[in-house]
Amino acid sequence: MHSKAVMNQRSYRSQNPNSSYKRPSEYRPEQNDDGRSYREAKHRKQDDHHHYQSQSRSFAGKYTPSSGSLSTRRELYEKDFPLYKQPVEIGCFSLDCNRRFFNDGRQMRYYVEPDRNPNFNLRDGYKDRFTKRDESQKEKLDHILRWIVSNRSKLNSKGVAASSSAIDFDFVTWRGHLTKLLCTPYEMREGWMLAVTRFQGTIYISEVETEAARRDCENRTEKHEEMMYWGYKFEQYACSDDVDGSPDPSGVVNTNEAFCTVVQTRLADHRLLFSGEVDCRDKDPNAPAPPACYVELKTSAEICTPKQRSNLHRFKLLKWWAQSFLPGVPRVVAGFRDHDGVVVAVETFHISKISQLIKNEYNCWKPTVCMNFCSDFLSFVKRVATEDNPCVVYLFSWEPRRDVTYSIHRDSEFSFLPHWYVEEMTRRPDSHTQP
Ligand code: A3P
Ligand code: MG
Repeated sequence: MHSKAVMNQRSYRSQNPNSSYKRPSEYRPEQNDDGRSYREAKHRKQDDHHHYQSQSRSFAGKYTPSSGSLSTRRELYEKDFPLYKQPVEIGCFSLDCNRRFFNDGRQMRYYVEPDRNPNFNLRDGYKDRFTKRDESQKEKLDHILRWIVSNRSKLNSKGVAASSSAIDFDFVTWRGHLTKLLCTPYEMREGWMLAVTRFQGTIYISEVETEAARRDCENRTEKHEEMMYWGYKFEQYACSDDVDGSPDPSGVVNTNEAFCTVVQTRLADHRLLFSGEVDCRDKDPNAPAPPACYVELKTSAEICTPKQRSNLHRFKLLKWWAQSFLPGVPRVVAGFRDHDGVVVAVETFHISKISQLIKNEYNCWKPTVCMNFCSDFLSFVKRVATEDNPCVVYLFSWEPRRDVTYSIHRDSEFSFLPHWYVEEMTRRPDSHTQP
């Protein structure tokens, strides 16, 4: 009835470790997860902006508060699935136990399949073996920018000898920001703010914490704080540091540590570079190349009734799907916990099967709405963010049941491209010394 852990039965293509930097190919129809082909919606032209409620005739280029807005109503986005090219990993980086950046995969972990009915105690170690990342340190896009600087030679546009040092992407951002965009048409609780800066033709998108999010963070209960640890503890039970090692639940959980993939892809006519944290990879040496070998781990409350199963499909699977679909991570392994924080069941969800799984749910989310909204939001951003200037921020804001609006800020507290990045990227490419 439900998805089962079938990954051992899959026959993998042989891995090609050198295939990481190439133009991504389109998802083929057989990889479609909702029975329709992933094709470009030909009727969607550049000027098809019927749902921009622009009251201002020329809202671009004028640095005054603007009245342009974008609707988030679901009906507007029930169109053909937009083109989404198969994401290709073009690199990775690691953050160590002190949150130091490394331009390599040293923090990669390996998935060790748990029993179907394990007894993982997620509360273990919360008091005495937990090092929590300092959430007040806002890192913005810094780690991705550091990765770009370290890998600049791979990213330069073709024919840049003329002097432009632009990288060959329309957007640079975190996968998590895109996940929020995908979920926006269905989100009823939490709004968002995204700071946008155009620099050398590329648009950088970095989240700004909303007032409400800051309050929620400050007022978290002790129980909520502990439950946030549970997801990381589950990772420790299901991952090993070495390819033939075993998980070590007696160790410390340190949430500074991260392994991040950097992928390139295209959504409609938007060339995207984004990075996202990856929990672990398949340890089979014959597993497909990244990102197809990656595994996302999740925890959720135990399911005891059909209503609870339905709620998982209608609400949680949206977020799980969006997060993993974006970078091309093919499966999510969920640990279901009881009230005492003990994982009592484990189930694998294949991203390509999720839209089938949710089909019979009443009034359910639709992948095409998520992707079309994201694509139209990015088009909206391109139209609005016209001044190419690292000191200018276009701040896009959204609250549930409202349209997306924006304001413009020059040399403000919202500026997020660091001087070191602007300086490095402004240097002539040939003055860049390779290690
Ligand atoms: P769960 O995924 O089991 O909820 P991720 O799944 O994205 O790899 O994140 C790992 C864990 O970080 C989560 O486990 C959860 O414990 C914690 N976490 C991530 N985002 C969070 C958020 N917005 N609020 C609370 N906890 C979060
Ligand atoms: Mg996870």
